[in-house]
Amino acid sequence: MSSNIITMGGVKSLRDIDITGKKVLIRVDFNVPMDGQFNISDDSRIRAALPTINYCIDHKVCSITLVSHLGQPKGGYDERYTLRHILKRLERLLEKKIEFIDNLETLKEENAHCSIERIFLLENIRFFEGEKKNDPVFCQQLADLCDVYVNDAFGTSHRKDASTYGIADYAPIKVAGFLMMREIEAFSKALENPIRPIALIVGGSKISSKITLLTSVMPKIDKLIIGGAMSNTFLKALGYDMKASLVEDDYVDIAKDVLFEALSKNVKVYLPVDVVSTDSIEHPVDIKITPVQDVLDGFHAVDIGPATLKLFSEAIELSNTIIWNGPMGIYEISQFSKGTFRLASIIADSYAFSIVGGGDTADAVEKAGEKEKFSFISTGGGASLELLEGKILPGFEKLDRK
Ligand code: ADP
Ligand code: 3PG
Ligand code: MG
Repeated sequence: MSSNIITMGGVKSLRDIDITGKKVLIRVDFNVPMDGQFNISDDSRIRAALPTINYCIDHKVCSITLVSHLGQPKGGYDERYTLRHILKRLERLLEKKIEFIDNLETLKEENAHCSIERIFLLENIRFFEGEKKNDPVFCQQLADLCDVYVNDAFGTSHRKDASTYGIADYAPIKVAGFLMMREIEAFSKALENPIRPIALIVGGSKISSKITLLTSVMPKIDKLIIGGAMSNTFLKALGYDMKASLVEDDYVDIAKDVLFEALSKNVKVYLPVDVVSTDSIEHPVDIKITPVQDVLDGFHAVDIGPATLKLFSEAIELSNTIIWNGPMGIYEISQFSKGTFRLASIIADSYAFSIVGGGDTADAVEKAGEKEKFSFISTGGGASLELLEGKILPGFEKLDRK
């Protein structure tokens, strides 16, 4: 088994400590996909946190404080990312009343009068300045809210943020929740003696945070299949003009490095040969399928085309282990969802061991109706890629060990 997984599997979990009568702070990952009206399109990440929350309720803790982020707000309150959007769903799933609190002072006061079954949900932790900076004062303030810190945010465990990482320097007891342990067990099965060839499929829009991981996963994989907005940056690196498509210009050079690294490690790379493009994402009037060389002025590449699907499906059929993170297009909009949904069916129908990771990718697989046919659906996107790299995830690093 890979040594990073052994190390992470050696942390204490909730089961190893006594929590009765304690104030427990649980870092969860409620970063769920939502539509334009803030309806949750996939609540798997909330459901995945329930075993840990229910265990705390059953063991009569004094209070539970739930801490999560939602999206990537930049600087303070932003209506689009308030955790109020998930409050009702959480209450329904838990069958409990939740007290929503938007500042640490009130939370501290209320927590001083803790009693069995009080559950607080703190507003999006990324509205607080200290979170992304992993500010020590903020870490201390968070730790002051609890006797026990539980990290169950597997999807965010690759981030060195205050609530996923720094807090553990100050909390008296710090352990992993059940989701964290379940993910590690599943990945240990997949990554321990994997059956080759291994194909890694990446897509989606978090280009900057995922592209940098690709160079280091190269020794572990045989094929790299790239789609979604991620592939626009690679196509630009190859000299194609992607016109109005989403491209991260600052990462074009890194894309070139990834391609060179693949060449030197004998990893076969598959990029789109055609794309679905549109004159407007919100109000499409003109939608075209063109070779990647021929995207029209002002058009956005928003999905992979049929020739690309054929190419990708042939690469997939020859793989025995498939790890997929990132949709092939803007799958939330039906005209641009075909590439992602068809790819989900192709992987589901293959004989390979298949793992899918990432909030949006898991949502897309569910919407494609193929969830049951995948070997494992992880709640982590970037986190699962870092696991594959062989890293110890920061969210495990500072937890108490057995
Ligand atoms: P995950 O949540 O599975 O880790 P990401 O968050 O990285 O995946 O990416 C998902 C998002 O990427 C989706 O909202 C999707 O609309 C977007 N996306 C995929 N392809 C494109 C594209 N070509 N242009 C713009 N956005 C895209
Ligand atoms: C995810 O969706 O991958 C996790 O919730 C982490 O989110 P982040 O990439 O914004 O840190
Ligand atoms: Mg996402």
